[in-house]
Amino acid sequence: MCGIVGAIAGRDVVPLLVDGLKRLEYRGYDSSGIAVVNGGVRRVRRTGRVAEMEAAALAEGVHADMGIGHTRWATHGGVTESNAHPHISGGIALVHNGIIENHEQQRERLQALGYAFESQTDTEVIAHLIDHHLKSGGGLLRALQAAVSELRGAYALAVVSRDEPNRMVVARMGCPLLVGLGEGENFVASDVSAIVQSTRRVIFLEEGDTAELTRDGVQVFGVERQPVEREVHVSDVSLASLELGPYSHFMQKEIHEQPRAIADTIEAVMDEAGFVPELFGADAAEVLADVSSVQILACGTSYYAGLTARYWIEGIAGLPCSVEIASEYRYRDAVADPRQLIVTISQSGETLDTMEALKYAKSLGQERTLSICNVPESAIPRASRLVHYTRAGAEIGVASTKAFTTQLVALFSLTCTLARLRGRLDEATEARHLDALRRLPGDIQHALNLEPQVRAWADRFASKHHALFLGRGVHYPIALEGALKLKEISYIHAEAYPAGELKHGPLALVDAAMPVVVIAPNDSLLEKVKSNIQEVRARGGEMYVFADADAGFGPSEGVHVIRTPRHVGVLSPIVHVIPVQMLAYHAALARGTDVDKPRNLAKSVTVE
Ligand code: G6P
Repeated sequence: MCGIVGAIAGRDVVPLLVDGLKRLEYRGYDSSGIAVVNGGVRRVRRTGRVAEMEAAALAEGVHADMGIGHTRWATHGGVTESNAHPHISGGIALVHNGIIENHEQQRERLQALGYAFESQTDTEVIAHLIDHHLKSGGGLLRALQAAVSELRGAYALAVVSRDEPNRMVVARMGCPLLVGLGEGENFVASDVSAIVQSTRRVIFLEEGDTAELTRDGVQVFGVERQPVEREVHVSDVSLASLELGPYSHFMQKEIHEQPRAIADTIEAVMDEAGFVPELFGADAAEVLADVSSVQILACGTSYYAGLTARYWIEGIAGLPCSVEIASEYRYRDAVADPRQLIVTISQSGETLDTMEALKYAKSLGQERTLSICNVPESAIPRASRLVHYTRAGAEIGVASTKAFTTQLVALFSLTCTLARLRGRLDEATEARHLDALRRLPGDIQHALNLEPQVRAWADRFASKHHALFLGRGVHYPIALEGALKLKEISYIHAEAYPAGELKHGPLALVDAAMPVVVIAPNDSLLEKVKSNIQEVRARGGEMYVFADADAGFGPSEGVHVIRTPRHVGVLSPIVHVIPVQMLAYHAALARGTDVDKPRNLAKSVTVE
């Protein structure tokens, strides 16, 4: 969701701010703005794309060597220019990511003090609060620190002032914010992609931190306002992963990057030559040793990765496993079990509901926590005892693809590690699983080669209003993921069912206008799936079947078949998700929707 970038330098920062905002576009937004200090504060804001705001800034000839920028995803107040950030009060300008819970009380108080509000946002409250505290004369940093101590909620903030043109101050609580260290210039950003063209040396601010940036230095202050030293990290995010290259869309690029992303993710397993606890962190042997069950918590596509893993964890490791949507778990009375392993799955590592579910589990005394995440040093892994990083590289398309398949690889490694610790993985089986993992990038490539056939199907889907996805067993979550992908980016209403549930309701929807997609791998449930296909055919439904080449499945009237590669055994869901990703991508393309930035959706959901 909202993105922040800021720079203080000995050069014009406007191009840096605009470029940074463009790189943050993927997080999801509906308006943007910049404010710079050059004599006074100058601000440019626009609804719509960053490019429109950029054009306005150029037309107005805005230049300065210090400024802040923001992409806003509306929460409090509609998508209007006056609600867009930066917000101004007196001589200060401010950008904010997060939600202030006590904004109404603060608004009343500030109105009583004579402040007039120009927006419906919670953010404007912070701007006025800082201006109010500035009047005590302690300077910008003190005013920011005093203001945040009166706020409840989540925030990442960057503030500049007309009266202190040589410094920028920032604060973080509950939302990601990092400081970038350059040579004679410094930066602030929501994520490293916004500043990576200027520097890779970053400090991840911690909860409750504030910091002051000048051209020549950065000083971070902890919760007690004492100066603190924070570790400097060197980001390895590649510029290539942030750029489209020869592709038309990031989603297309990311679908095709999956063989590489999976090869990178299994590298650690291959280096260790086996499923060892160390894959999950230094004290993993102790944490994983005698877990009684596994509770997986996640949202969206990551939740479907969890649903898939449940079949593995129960079937291979023999451990009870529940999977729950994070926003549900966090608000129910869960029964605590200190020996239960809590696994959070998150591409971004900053999804608020997943973070809050993790905090809730910890508050119940659940100490054994593991995060599977794609973004190093993000909030969720930092709050977890064990971490396994997927190595998908930056994922920019809102609809998750390579993050999902690498999450599945990580969850499979976790399953095998738990199985081994529990004496349920003999050497021969472990060798077989390792071999299957090693072959997986090649198997994925075979599935990618089906693209021309999938595209032909997608062209037919483009005119449909609804679609049904069916799967059974470990492939039921793949049907769910297929339906999610299709609705997210093509806006075709799609639902997924376990094929056996068909006759308990969805069969009533089936007619010639409703395409029915079936995931039909050559596994023990194949005959059951074939019967379910007959049930649909008998009602005149048009079937689109993804069947393994060795499944003995041929096309017939009303039954279209794409033969996926031979059945790859236990890792089959990772291969079968590839064609449904491509189906959604090409259906969206045929319908002319915004594939990488579907309406109303955001990549990083940092609000409830
Ligand atoms: C958003 C994204 C989805 C993603 C979900 C969970 O809804 O659009 O692609 O699956 O958040 O995100 P996470 O970063 O926690 O995996």
